[in-house]
Amino acid sequence: MNFENKIVWITGASSGIGRAVALEIAKEKAKLILSGRNREALVEVAETCIKSGSRAEVVPFDLGDEKSVADAAASVLSKYAEIDCLYHFGGISQRSFVAETPLFVDRKIFEVNYFGTIALTKAVLPLMIKNGGGHIAVTSSIVGKFGFPYRSSYSASKQALHGFFESLRAENTKNNIRVSIIIPGRIKTNISVNAINKEGKTHAKMDEGQDTGKPAEETAKIIVKKLKRFKKEILVGGREVIMVHIRRFLPSLFYYMSSRVKPL
Ligand SMILES: NC(=O)c1ccc[n+]([C@@H]2O[C@H](COP(=O)([O-])OP(=O)(O)OC[C@H]3O[C@@H](n4cnc5c(N)ncnc54)[C@H](OP(=O)(O)O)[C@@H]3O)[C@@H](O)[C@H]2O)c1
Repeated sequence: MNFENKIVWITGASSGIGRAVALEIAKEKAKLILSGRNREALVEVAETCIKSGSRAEVVPFDLGDEKSVADAAASVLSKYAEIDCLYHFGGISQRSFVAETPLFVDRKIFEVNYFGTIALTKAVLPLMIKNGGGHIAVTSSIVGKFGFPYRSSYSASKQALHGFFESLRAENTKNNIRVSIIIPGRIKTNISVNAINKEGKTHAKMDEGQDTGKPAEETAKIIVKKLKRFKKEILVGGREVIMVHIRRFLPSLFYYMSSRVKPL
């Protein structure tokens, strides 16, 4: 696939991986719709995309607020007769132990990572079906493939995305809807800074694992290359991605390792 003149809606475009993917796609003269909550950051990304020769507009909204998602979808769908690609990068991580985490924190993570993401997908899907197809990508995580200390509901919300989007794919292959699930390992972004703790407040720390992760720009190049080939699963990161294979082929070793891991 070539992104030239394609209408591509990207959530999580204000920061990190989503921002880097938007800037990468912008090199191909696409028509970008950029979302996140931070309007100022989105405008900065849009300006850079426009300098690269793409069209870009910002549509800020809160994935954790059902009405905000519905309003954003209504506004975009009233303006665009088609959406070629819907790429979800918006999400929040977690830094808290199960035993210390009140349910409102678990719910908050699910509202943003799962319900907000599927609500937007459901709003856009009928238009894609009507127009003969489209490409939807969702960002999971390697912890969407296994459980991990300090990430219980984050991991659960990402695993839920696999169930939802694999079902969506199976139901809509006949409608020419392609689905890609992006599975990053440790990528150097503000994900740990923006992660929420047991109080539901931001962790506000750049964890060492994050700081030494794969740069977002390098990650975006890999992701975009694979999105263009409609890859069903896009595993990207450093050496840590081997955990996905260990979990699958050597589960006992995985259980041993994950119970001894330093939780950050
Ligand atoms: N970095 C990693 O190591 C890693 C690993 C695996 C998976 N991932 C996943 O990759 C995706 C991108 O994360 P990142 O690493 O790029 O982190 P990031 O720099 O913190 O970016 C997160 C993005 O999500 C948006 N977002 C967060 N809460 C939102 C809300 N309530 N409503 C709307 N947008 C919201 C943020 O925008 P605003 O702040 O403007 O709202 C921001 O654009 C996430 O889904 C994350 O789970 C990251």
